[in-house]
Amino acid sequence: MAVDFKVNGRAVSVDVPDGTRLLWVLRERLKLTGTKYGCGVAQCGACMVHVDGQPTFSCQTPTEAVRGRAITTIDVLALIDPPDRDGHGRDQLLHALRRHAQLQRRCAVR
Ligand code: FES
Repeated sequence: MAVDFKVNGRAVSVDVPDGTRLLWVLRERLKLTGTKYGCGVAQCGACMVHVDGQPTFSCQTPTEAVRGRAITTIDVLALIDPPDRDGHGRDQLLHALRRHAQLQRRCAVR
């Protein structure tokens, strides 16, 4: 079954069986290995991605559930220009890291 969506701003289409978890599509098909496998049961957050801005456990998300949606992974940080020698660009990188950490904490099991 073909599923079309966006990842880190790029349109993608994957053909996977129903129920294939988004985590494995990101890592194995799209080679976005920043998203990790940890517990596999929505407890650790290692697989966290944003789906239309909402923190989502990709280890629990069937790929067909993200059809037409926008996924952001931690790999997006590689697309941000690193700070130059004068520190320009550092604020953008720090903001992205803080936002990711906040969203992971928000989803953490207490
Ligand atoms: S792998 Fe631990 S929450 Fe998904």
